[in-house]
Amino acid sequence: MQNNVRPESMERITTKALADAFIDEQVKAIREQVGDKKVLLALSGGVDSSVVAALLIKAIGKQLVCVHVNHGLLRKGEPEQVVKVFRDEMDANLVYVDAVDRFLDKLAGVAEPEKKRKIIGAEFIRVFEEEARKQEGISFLAQGTIYPDILESDGVKAHHNVGGLPEDLQFELVEPVKLLFKDEVRVVGEALGLPHGMVYRQPFPGPGLGVRCLGAITRDRLNALREADAILREEFDKNGLAGKVWQYFISVPDMKSVGVKDGKRYEGWPAIIRAVNTTDAMTATIEEIPYTLLHHITARITAEVDGINRVLYDLTPKPVGTIEWE
Ligand code: XMP
Repeated sequence: MQNNVRPESMERITTKALADAFIDEQVKAIREQVGDKKVLLALSGGVDSSVVAALLIKAIGKQLVCVHVNHGLLRKGEPEQVVKVFRDEMDANLVYVDAVDRFLDKLAGVAEPEKKRKIIGAEFIRVFEEEARKQEGISFLAQGTIYPDILESDGVKAHHNVGGLPEDLQFELVEPVKLLFKDEVRVVGEALGLPHGMVYRQPFPGPGLGVRCLGAITRDRLNALREADAILREEFDKNGLAGKVWQYFISVPDMKSVGVKDGKRYEGWPAIIRAVNTTDAMTATIEEIPYTLLHHITARITAEVDGINRVLYDLTPKPVGTIEWE
């Protein structure tokens, strides 16, 4: 544990100059640790794994093998952005795994939230394990562990790390941002040239849209959720709320109501907007979204998203409501 303790004297990384110094130091340390060996990384596209990937690409280039598992529960455009940024722009060694059918088939008919989480977590490890076995000569596993993970759980980050790998697939860890707080990881990410939207994106649960497509997931309802969520994000971006609101998203319950569209009966699902502010996710308050914007978002979602015929705004703070619906 000794080297997992942040020294009191360590300055907070708040500027580009401090980030550059940190990057130089880590590049040296990574090269020393890894030598000419290969490193494997599960790259979700989230802030922490993206910054670790960019640091390792700078340090060891193609000795890093990034594995991006598309489990079908990511937000609109996310898998494409990972491929564009890391393969096309940073020339990384990126294995893209389309595991959408695998995950959705496993989840079919499963309505119980914790069971859904377990299936997603276990299947992720299985897919990652298969990819790890296909690679020759991997010696290290890189992880986006950050300092709060160490403080909270003694170094184990259940939804990010690949802690469930079998005995014969245990690698030495490379954790270059493990002494940094989230805001510092972001400053380092920008200094590494990652897109602003990737570095400053809102928190997103490991099981992704799986816990927002409430009850048993179906492909059509998941699609409706993804499209409605993309509209919400676009409108928050355009109206200056994206950088201001801590977390905002859509959930779609497994129920339909009667509506009317083009003079005909139109049964559809409700899209529920959640937009909350918090510092630690233990309690949360509701963002006061202007009514005009709520009307505009409602009009767009009901007009543009197949299957949605109502839009609701969840006004419940935490407690009593948790941030996610399941
Ligand atoms: P709740 O719903 O408990 O959420 O108020 C608090 C914060 O945690 C996120 N969350 C998750 N993150 N795996 C994750 O990685 C999960 O299973 C999970 N469930 C909730 C949630 O988005 C919120 O930011």
